[in-house]
Amino acid sequence: MNVRWEVVPGGPLRGSLRVPGDKSISHRALLLNGLASGSAVIRNLLRSEDVDATAGALRAMGVEIEEQGDTFVVRPPVRLKEPEQPIDCGNSGTSMRLLSGVIAAEPMFAVLTGDASLRRRPMARVLDPLRQMGAEVGGRGGGRLAPLAIRGGQLRSMDFSLNIASAQVKSALLLAGRRVGVSVEEPEQSRNHTELMLARMGASLEVHGRRVVLGATEKLEPLNVDVPGDISAAAFFLVAGCIVPGSEICLRGVGVNPTRTGILDILRAMGADIEIVPVDSAGAEPQADLIVRSSSLKGIAIGGTLALRALDELPVAAVAAAFAEGDTVISDAAELRAKESDRVARTVAGLRTLGIDAEERPDGMVIRGGRPCGPGLVDANGDHRIAMAFSVAALACEGGVWVDGAESVASSYPGFRDHLEGLRA
Ligand code: S3P
Repeated sequence: MNVRWEVVPGGPLRGSLRVPGDKSISHRALLLNGLASGSAVIRNLLRSEDVDATAGALRAMGVEIEEQGDTFVVRPPVRLKEPEQPIDCGNSGTSMRLLSGVIAAEPMFAVLTGDASLRRRPMARVLDPLRQMGAEVGGRGGGRLAPLAIRGGQLRSMDFSLNIASAQVKSALLLAGRRVGVSVEEPEQSRNHTELMLARMGASLEVHGRRVVLGATEKLEPLNVDVPGDISAAAFFLVAGCIVPGSEICLRGVGVNPTRTGILDILRAMGADIEIVPVDSAGAEPQADLIVRSSSLKGIAIGGTLALRALDELPVAAVAAAFAEGDTVISDAAELRAKESDRVARTVAGLRTLGIDAEERPDGMVIRGGRPCGPGLVDANGDHRIAMAFSVAALACEGGVWVDGAESVASSYPGFRDHLEGLRA
């Protein structure tokens, strides 16, 4: 079912907001506690379709997940049970890849499937190393695509060197190798939430540069998690605050793990007025209040580690670039093409619809800043982050913008539109 949003430009955005819990941390808080030796309480868990997919899979394997007021209690079974039915991961790549790792280490057979977008996404990057560890895995397209069939069991300990930096792949391999020990090196450091959580749950885990070494771990202590606000969700309001004249927005309790803060560095380098006020996070992942005021932006070059640290935020960073003076060049971001949609193609097409001169590159894009005007119709193609990025662009365009495929925002941020309208009131 296609949902079309009409977003009309309007006055300044003002007020304060708590964005929902971090999606990456929410998946991991459920999954890792589902493997622990006792029950744990999760506060501020993201409630969205993607996280529901992970919760549903864990329930199918015998984990009890119960909502109690504003928290979730996770009660793992003594041993995960074999799911009776195929597990539907919906649109969620994180669910599918991390669950592949979990299942590979269990004496069970499971099938993982997902929606049309997820069934097109590359899975060989997870399946090949799982095969090397000794799991029996199959999939469509010669074992590269979902649905995936996994028969897990006793695996071999291995040392991996990945040729793509990917937190999903790294996490899947750590989860698969948890009982026998495993080490994973990446070309650049991707988000490290799995490592931080495993260490806090008592696993013997060492980080040497870009290599993570996990020792054989029989028991994981349960970990109560207070999930910080999602910087990937906050990014939409950071850009909106910059480009809509007269705005001032305070985003409270946002996670600022340095592997995730590329968007702050990008916007500040473009000239954005963003204040970062650290708040106490009781020894867990760092959090801060972020205050953004409208700013005049200039184009910059975004590549290397900076592109990786802002991977999911690059479409909305490109929207900021459309309102900036001068050119912005995004490179080293070929992985953007393997997300929920080809985000290079979708972002460039959307910007052009709004009258902006933008061009695709194999590993990124070039955006020549100017005056995005509209009106226009942008097709998000079922990709939540494209839908939200162009809703933000619409706020500062002269004409209105229609966004097709807006139902997709439910995968990461069901309340996005209400939060946006709330800041305009
Ligand atoms: C995620 C990792 C990233 C990111 C995705 C969530 C995670 O993907 O794009 O939205 O939670 O591990 P890769 O690091 O696998 O590219």
